[in-house]
Amino acid sequence: MLAKLMNSAARRFGYEFKKIGERIDTEDGYQIYRYYDGDGHFDYEKYKATQTKANQKKLANVWVREENIEFLSNYIRETVGEPAFGICHGTRRGKEQEWFIKYLGCEVIGTEISDTAADFPHTIQWDFHEVKPEWVDRTDFIYSNSLDHSYDPDKCLNAWMSCLTPAGICILEHSSGHERAHEVDPFGAHISQMPSLILDWGRGRFSVREIIDAPSMKSSLKYMKYIIIQRV
Ligand SMILES: C[S@@+](CC[C@H](N)C(=O)[O-])C[C@H]1O[C@@H](n2cnc3c(N)ncnc32)[C@H](O)[C@@H]1O
Repeated sequence: MLAKLMNSAARRFGYEFKKIGERIDTEDGYQIYRYYDGDGHFDYEKYKATQTKANQKKLANVWVREENIEFLSNYIRETVGEPAFGICHGTRRGKEQEWFIKYLGCEVIGTEISDTAADFPHTIQWDFHEVKPEWVDRTDFIYSNSLDHSYDPDKCLNAWMSCLTPAGICILEHSSGHERAHEVDPFGAHISQMPSLILDWGRGRFSVREIIDAPSMKSSLKYMKYIIIQRV
C-alpha cells in the first residue's frame, strides 16, 4: 500500500521505486534473502558486490578458531584417514586453510569471492557455488563456516558434495548466529532444520552423518555445531 502510494507520487516526477531485495520465509522452514534487479529477477552482480563490500569492511576479522580446526583435523584423520586435499569455502583471511595445513600437512585451498583473496596464501578468488573440474571426486574434506552467505544453499551444497571422494566429508559450521537471513548473510536456518534440509537437497545422494559440538565458541552464541555430511 505504502509502496503504491510512493510510486504514484514518484511517477509524477518521472521516477519509480523498485524492490532491490527481500527476506523470504520458505515453505521448508528456512529464510532466504533474494537480490533483485529492477525487473524482479535474481541479480548476481548485486550479490557479488554486497559480499565483496562486506568482506572489505570486515577484512581484519577472523571468525574461525584454531582450537576448533585442530579438533576437526583429528576428526578428519579418524574418519577419512590421512587426507591429501581439502577445500575451505568463504575464507576471508585464510586462517582455516593455514591451520588445516599446519595440523594435517596436506594441500588445502580456500575460496573467497572478494578480490582481497589475492592478499592471502592458499586462497583463490572464486564463487563457492561453482566447481572446478579438478576438484570433482578428489577432495577428502570440505570445511565452511560460510554457507549462510549462499544465495542458493541447495545448489551450493550439491556443488560442494560433488567434489568429495566416496569416503570424504563435508563439515559445516552452524551456530545460533546462522539463523537469520539478511542482505549479507542470505541464508538462515535453525540447527534443528538442517538435517532435513540437507536430506532434501541431497535427493538420495548425501545425508548427515553426525552433528558435533564445537569445542570452543564465542560466549555470545547459544550453540555452535559441526554438521558432518557424507555421500550415501
Ligand atoms: C562470515 S565470513 C567468514 C570468514 C572466515 N571463514 C572466518 O572464519 O573468518 C564469510 C566469508 O565468505 C566470503 N564469501 C561470501 N560469499 C562467497 C561466495 N559465494 N564464494 C566464496 N566466498 C564467499 C565473504 O566474502 C567472507 O569473507
